Amino acid sequence: MSDLVKIEIITRQKKFEELKEALNSIGVAGMTVTQVLGCGLQKGKTEIYRGASYSIDLLPKVKIDMVVPDSSTDEIISITKKVCATGTIGDGKIFVSPVAKVIRIRTGEEGPDAL
Ligand SMILES: Nc1ncnc2c1ncn2[C@@H]1O[C@H](COP(=O)(O)OP(=O)(O)OP(=O)(O)O)[C@@H](O)[C@H]1O
Ligand SMILES: [Mg+2]
Repeated sequence: MSDLVKIEIITRQKKFEELKEALNSIGVAGMTVTQVLGCGLQKGKTEIYRGASYSIDLLPKVKIDMVVPDSSTDEIISITKKVCATGTIGDGKIFVSPVAKVIRIRTGEEGPDAL
């Protein structure tokens, strides 16, 4: 198993600030944040966005990508569930995958030192 993993969190935009602060508080070194459109099982149709029921298939979400040591995975998953779980559909998903290589361009450092 790789020592480094990429954690991709897709969740509600309104949870982003709180989640960012929580991740920062546990020492996450860097993140990439993207505004995305997506759908899950319900194809977006039954979620509410800004008070309106969308009839379209894709809803706005925020995606947070982080590459971290595998040893941080459980804590990040747990904090994300704590902040983002509302119990209603559309809370989002967390994907975890192995990372083959990380290079800090400025110094040439590789692996965990490059995070
Ligand atoms: N299988 C998937 N592959 C890639 N992205 C996904 C997948 N499922 C969900 N997503 C992304 O996660 C976002 C939130 O998904 P969502 O929370 O609706 O998942 P769900 O499986 O339908 O669960 P829920 O029952 O809570 O709605 C989607 O808008 C989409 O961007
Ligand atoms: Mg859904």
